[in-house]
Amino acid sequence: MGPSPHEVTLRPATLDDVPILQKWDREPHVIACSTDNPAATTAFDNTDWAQEITGAGDADYHLIAEVDGRPIGAMQVIDPLAEPTHYWGEVEPHLRAIDIWIGERDALGRGYGTSMMTQVIDGAFADPSTVAIIIDPLNSNTDAHRFYQRLGFRVVGRRSFDGDDCLVHRLDRTTWQDRR
Ligand SMILES: CC(C)(COP(=O)(O)OP(=O)(O)OC[C@H]1O[C@@H](n2cnc3c(N)ncnc32)[C@H](O)[C@@H]1OP(=O)(O)O)[C@@H](O)C(=O)NCCC(=O)NCCS
Repeated sequence: MGPSPHEVTLRPATLDDVPILQKWDREPHVIACSTDNPAATTAFDNTDWAQEITGAGDADYHLIAEVDGRPIGAMQVIDPLAEPTHYWGEVEPHLRAIDIWIGERDALGRGYGTSMMTQVIDGAFADPSTVAIIIDPLNSNTDAHRFYQRLGFRVVGRRSFDGDDCLVHRLDRTTWQDRR
């Protein structure tokens, strides 16, 4: 049986997704979630998507969300300790870090993001060694803070990542289990 209509499904990103990932990088609402620089014209610092996808592994991979077979957004899931760029710096083992962006404007605010996060969080905690999930929304992205906090994430604190002023949030396994 396939998914029910209008349900969000997640699948690994492939090289065929490079054009749509590039298109989403130029969407103003995606740029706004990636940087406070008002002059930015792309999100994610001109990420080389083909390289990201071919280099994917257990410690760093991208997923594409689809509704009725149409790609609407993407997620990145990393193990922040093992991920090669060490974006998160010194971190404890057994964490996952998640990024999420819905690229198609008409797909915002319909519950798809909540479903995408729920699926990935469930998957992360299905590994009994995972202790918590961390995320780094911009401090300015208060819409996203509300979204994450409704899922159970709690504020850890402000932190600068490559000059971006972020408000790190964390979801512990016990918090998630108590809510499920
Ligand atoms: C954040 C995001 C993934 C949420 O997914 P969604 O499907 O839009 O959200 P849902 O419908 O499940 O939940 C609604 C909540 O999402 C948040 N939200 C809605 N539109 C949003 C937007 N354009 N930007 C950021 N957050 C938004 C709000 O908290 C909203 O709750 P509200 O009713 O209290 O305003 C999605 O809005 C998005 O991709 N936004 C742009 C990129 C972004 O901000 N990503 C997060 C980077 S840290």
